Amino acid sequence: MTGKIKVALVGIGNCFSGLIQGIEYYKQNPSQEVIGIIHDKLRAYGIHDIDFVAGFDVGENKIGKSINEGIYEYPNMVDWIPKDKMPKTESMIYESPALDGVGIWVENRVKPIQSGKNETDLEKEIKDILKKTGAEIVVSYLPVGSEKATQFWAQICLDTNTAFVNCMPAFIASDEEWAQKFTDKNIPVVGDDIKGQVGATIVHRTLARLCNDRGTKIEKTYQINVGGNTDFLNMKEQERLVSKRISKTESVQSQLDERLDDDQIYVGPSDFIPFLANTKLMFMRIEGKQWANIPYNMEVRLEVDDKANSAGIVIDAIRLAKIALDDGIGGPIIPASAYLMKHPIKQMSDPEAKTACEKFVAGNS
Ligand SMILES: NC(=O)c1ccc[n+]([C@@H]2O[C@H](COP(=O)([O-])OP(=O)(O)OC[C@H]3O[C@@H](n4cnc5c(N)ncnc54)[C@H](O)[C@@H]3O)[C@@H](O)[C@H]2O)c1
Repeated sequence: MTGKIKVALVGIGNCFSGLIQGIEYYKQNPSQEVIGIIHDKLRAYGIHDIDFVAGFDVGENKIGKSINEGIYEYPNMVDWIPKDKMPKTESMIYESPALDGVGIWVENRVKPIQSGKNETDLEKEIKDILKKTGAEIVVSYLPVGSEKATQFWAQICLDTNTAFVNCMPAFIASDEEWAQKFTDKNIPVVGDDIKGQVGATIVHRTLARLCNDRGTKIEKTYQINVGGNTDFLNMKEQERLVSKRISKTESVQSQLDERLDDDQIYVGPSDFIPFLANTKLMFMRIEGKQWANIPYNMEVRLEVDDKANSAGIVIDAIRLAKIALDDGIGGPIIPASAYLMKHPIKQMSDPEAKTACEKFVAGNS
């Protein structure tokens, strides 16, 4: 099947801004080779086949604007395409219930709209908008720690027969009960927590795997991440980080021959440094032993634009969710989740996940 993929977005923050500005960048520069995605085409779907039909947020400065305007509103900071070069669109940003979406550190950056609508009013309104716009897939870019808001949106997808791509670490696709609900209704869900293109997680997983594959014993490891955008500011609130830490730590642990004791592994977002803006720095160290018990260690420093790092992967996740819809496959889409997400319901090695994904696209999963 071909045609446009109709997508609704929840959380019109920096990640979505980078995704849509990247697509526009390639539209405006057709002679540029499209780099930054793993697959140019997935079945017939290219990057220009995605149609963003609606957005949902809580920010009073974003709601009521078109999505192409709202992406430039504070505190967003991606500016790869100047605002006046972004085409007009009729796709609007609507209100989502705030629930637990806005943490204490971002309260002075994100001002939730005071419309007086309660959760039940909004639920009805949202379902009508999804129906009216023909959205087939909801992509969640909610902030870390938005457990209730994520569950609200997962339930909306179940009630409206809409596929769900969960880019953040509240567990839906990887939670047995939620996964079963999607299986029972035969609705695809891809998640949880997007694995960046060349991000901290994939680099750490790959090097840890290499150390084991070459016969060394890993004894301890850490990965520290710092950045300067709203995502990192929000993650200063330790209570919001429980599932993020599990997601990132398990993603590395799953690749080791022997699990490390909890006190021998530290993987986590660690601090907010305002002037870094969307630049993310990762510092990783592995310590272990080689032949004759001789110690070794390695350190890696990775510097990436956090938003360029995730957009291409989300574009693949959207297209794989659409292929699942085309093929009538529901429940957690394991090949896509294992390949593209940090916390799938079933972990695989990255090469295994890539092969499984290719089989899925070929219709042989
Ligand atoms: N490399 C990456 O960027 C990467 C990788 C993995 C996961 N993620 C996750 O993706 C998510 C989005 O990241 P971001 O940088 O765009 O964050 P962001 O803080 O820039 O954007 C979040 C948006 O969600 C909105 N929001 C808050 N509560 C809401 C609610 N209840 N309903 C609807 N909208 C709500 C905010 O107003 C904001 O516009 C985060 O959870 C992040 O951890 C990002």
